[in-house]
Amino acid sequence: MAAIRNVEEIRDGALAALAQASDRAALQEWRVRVLGRKGELTTVLRSLGSLPEAERRVVGAAANAARDVLDAAYTERAARVEQEELRQATERERVDVTLPGRPLPAGSLHVITRTLADVLDAFRSLGFWVAEGPEVEWDEYNFTRLRIPEDHPARDMFDTIWVDYTRPDGRRPMLLRTHTSPMQVRVMERRQPPIRVVVPGRCYRFEATDATHEWMFLQVEGLAVDEGVSLADLKGTLEEFARRIFGRERRVMLRHAYFPFVEPGVELAVDCFACHGTGCRVCGATGWIELLGAGMVHPEVLADVGYDARRYTGFAFGMGIERVALIRHGIDDIRMFYSNDVRFLEQFPGV
Ligand code: PHE
Repeated sequence: MAAIRNVEEIRDGALAALAQASDRAALQEWRVRVLGRKGELTTVLRSLGSLPEAERRVVGAAANAARDVLDAAYTERAARVEQEELRQATERERVDVTLPGRPLPAGSLHVITRTLADVLDAFRSLGFWVAEGPEVEWDEYNFTRLRIPEDHPARDMFDTIWVDYTRPDGRRPMLLRTHTSPMQVRVMERRQPPIRVVVPGRCYRFEATDATHEWMFLQVEGLAVDEGVSLADLKGTLEEFARRIFGRERRVMLRHAYFPFVEPGVELAVDCFACHGTGCRVCGATGWIELLGAGMVHPEVLADVGYDARRYTGFAFGMGIERVALIRHGIDDIRMFYSNDVRFLEQFPGV
């Protein structure tokens, strides 16, 4: 019977074509061509009506059987193709997890910023709070109320950058603060004892730069005022601070120094990290690096802000943050900090 042979031919041809279909598109195309509404097998089934009764049953059964075979073959083939495509995609997109990662370039905080944060943390944990004040300051706060009147020789300690502002009386009372000490007065004006405060801030001096001096630098002022505050408290506080920041092996020296707004005045120095005390360029051949000035707040300064100087005493200190960073990291030139040389700055990675 020709019709049955026809069905068998269609089936075998379709099976052969199916074996060649190797991706989803080919499979889809095959499915439409073979099993679709206008497909070859459907056409045979549609034409059954024109066949004689006996032949119709036989051919119909054969066509239905062929369709079942093709259907099953399609399902199996589709699963296989899908699996293969997945395998290839996985292969293509495989990641070698043993390769080292490529680091992303990331900025970080400046070494001075981090040093300042560590210094403030050390004082916070000792019970100090943090305040800030103006960088453009009045002569009155920067000098006069700190017992440095005009024409006082102590003004020579501070090579001042004056703001070009002249009052009607001819005086030029405005400057870039030469230290953070004016904040001693500003804090005491606003609050009553007990006071324990540290004040970070930029300071400016009109001076030639060298390995240990910059014309702009960061200071942290400290002030503690209460009943019974003594020089021993100052010494204990600064020693504890130095231990926390520099480690226990660093030697610290406290010696007498003069500042008009403290009495007595002291200076804290640490042994030079570069020469270990024998004397070099970094320490100016002294073996010591001066870190801060300090002392007991002068009673006249206390009285000037309206405190009872018989009842209250206080200590104050002012330190250079660049000096702290320099000593901590063994850097031998303070000018490196602000010259924006990335090769230098990259040596201090971190948050
Ligand atoms: N202000 C002083 C300076 O910059 C340091 C200092 C602060 C000294 C507080 C005594 C008390 O040199």
